[in-house]
Amino acid sequence: MLTVALPKGRIAKETLEIFETIFGDGFKFDDRKLILETENFRFLLVRNQDVATYVFHQAADIGVVGLDTLEEQGLDVVRLLDLRRGVCKVSIGMKVGEKLDLSKPELKVASKMVNITKRYFEERAVSVEIIKLNGSVELAPLIGLADMIVDVVETGTTMKQNGLEVVQDIMTSSTYLIANKNSYIAKKDEVLSIYEKISEVIKAENK
Ligand code: PRP
Repeated sequence: MLTVALPKGRIAKETLEIFETIFGDGFKFDDRKLILETENFRFLLVRNQDVATYVFHQAADIGVVGLDTLEEQGLDVVRLLDLRRGVCKVSIGMKVGEKLDLSKPELKVASKMVNITKRYFEERAVSVEIIKLNGSVELAPLIGLADMIVDVVETGTTMKQNGLEVVQDIMTSSTYLIANKNSYIAKKDEVLSIYEKISEVIKAENK
């Protein structure tokens, strides 16, 4: 029996499609149910930000999560496969027309992703004040809470609609299949079997 943590939210649809392709009609969560058991699998629907936590603590053997979230959380899990979906960037955004000037003192940066933000500026020896927000980050520069934001950009629509633009990309992200380190050894055959099935779906799409 393999327990699989799947994400709700932005990358959910594209992720569930892969499992629908593999498992067919048997793969269907009942309305509002967060758990689905089949003969050999137990699927859990969890928040995207919680997938790596389930996998790290071995509450799930494998999971699917965005690389941006993995980098932000820094939990020690095995990165098995890039699913080449949910492609987005983590970027710095500012009000349209403003320029990124890292020599300016007392820069304020608002973000959900404080660790990625911290690393980016530390690597450049720039001291900034990071303001942690939990969403609607694009508001911060508009009302003077911060000089810039670090946020996920997929289509760019949210920034554009709020009068912001990307001034610098920090990283590219996509959705990854991850495994718990112990499960990867103890349940190697089961993990590799599902890994191969998922690989085939991804390969068939990219032909
Ligand atoms: C992200 C991000 C932006 C938006 C960018 O939020 O914080 O608000 O998506 O997408 P766009 O470039 O296509 O407009 P997400 O949808 O991941 O929601 P969250 O705030 O719950 O993390």
